[in-house]
Amino acid sequence: MTLNESEPTAPGVIGDRVDRGRFNSLFHESIAAILRNQSDEGAFIASPDFAQYHFCWLRDGSFSAFALDRAGEHDASARYHSWVNYAIGGISGIIDDVIERRIQGEALDPSIMPPARFALDGTAVVDDWPNFQIDGYGTWLWSLGEHLRETGKNAIPRELRSSVARAARYLATFSMSPCYDVWEESGSAVHSSTLASVYGGLATAARLLDDADLQSSADVVRERLSRDAQQHGLYVKSSENDGVDGSELWLLAPFGVVEADDVNFIRTIAAIEDRLTLNGGIRRYSSDVYFGSGAWPVLTASLGWHYVTIGNLDGAKGCLAWVASHFDADGHLGEQFGGELRDPKHYDEWVERWGQPAKDLTWSYAMYIVLVMAIEEAEGVLDSSSRSVSGKSSSQVRDRS
Ligand code: BGC
Repeated sequence: MTLNESEPTAPGVIGDRVDRGRFNSLFHESIAAILRNQSDEGAFIASPDFAQYHFCWLRDGSFSAFALDRAGEHDASARYHSWVNYAIGGISGIIDDVIERRIQGEALDPSIMPPARFALDGTAVVDDWPNFQIDGYGTWLWSLGEHLRETGKNAIPRELRSSVARAARYLATFSMSPCYDVWEESGSAVHSSTLASVYGGLATAARLLDDADLQSSADVVRERLSRDAQQHGLYVKSSENDGVDGSELWLLAPFGVVEADDVNFIRTIAAIEDRLTLNGGIRRYSSDVYFGSGAWPVLTASLGWHYVTIGNLDGAKGCLAWVASHFDADGHLGEQFGGELRDPKHYDEWVERWGQPAKDLTWSYAMYIVLVMAIEEAEGVLDSSSRSVSGKSSSQVRDRS
């Protein structure tokens, strides 16, 4: 039986019924897909088959680099981090300027803020995209910290220091400012998952730069989240929405802004499972309409990652099976599934506007890899010399293809 023949209806129902051979081959195909979607300079195109996504987002790219590190592809990850270093260098004047103006008390128009995404050559794109999204800078710092850890580097390379310090200062200055969320929406709110990325980035930068002030800024972010959660009895989506959001899964893994036994976080996870499950996968949030709001591999794998973190391996394998069952016959993994039946009106509206949803989404492969590695590590079957699930090193696999 292959996974395609048995689709779970709720996270965790597959349990131990896993087809390791298929998981392994999809794992290697995922590494190959991310590498295929990386430019010579190191950027990851968010999706080559979807015109709106022909850019590199700090958010998608930083999770993708993390996945490559988990899979042993450290050189490719290093190339991404150098690319970010170059991209941040190119906008250093903008970052310094907005920090200074904020310190002077100026109200800043979101359109002048540092970008969330860049052209593949590392230059900032000038268009009407909702650019003011600070989460990507936090996710980058966290991902860089993981890269250095995975490659056994104790000190931050000299050439990266100023970008790290600049990104951290930017986050510390704007951490509590309303900005667009990880879905590039709702620019007038402060979002819990954005705060989690900011916390993860600031805590990493504090460690890398040995800077106690940055750690204090991270602590302020954590206190804000915790205070809000006390008030609502769970971690709400944002200052303007007391629902939950799938991206809040990252509060624990990877950003560590909450503890696993935090009752408000446990209630948040229960609400995500209860309100956002669609045919076994996880949607972004209740009132989402983007392409009819299907379930996202990125989020379903994130739930699986969360399950591994709390020791629920059956649940994690259920999520893995769901993601695995959504690769197409060509080995491509798209952005979301099921929106066309859930909400055909909005699905059609978006298709008319932007064409079919992305079928080859770099970030989706990344989260599949992250989940496979988390499960394998938790089960203790990982061959640490190869960092791969099949015993072949990922670069060996790439050489063959
Ligand atoms: C998502 C973002 C993502 C971007 C590129 C958008 O639709 O909302 O989270 O960074 O696509 O994949």
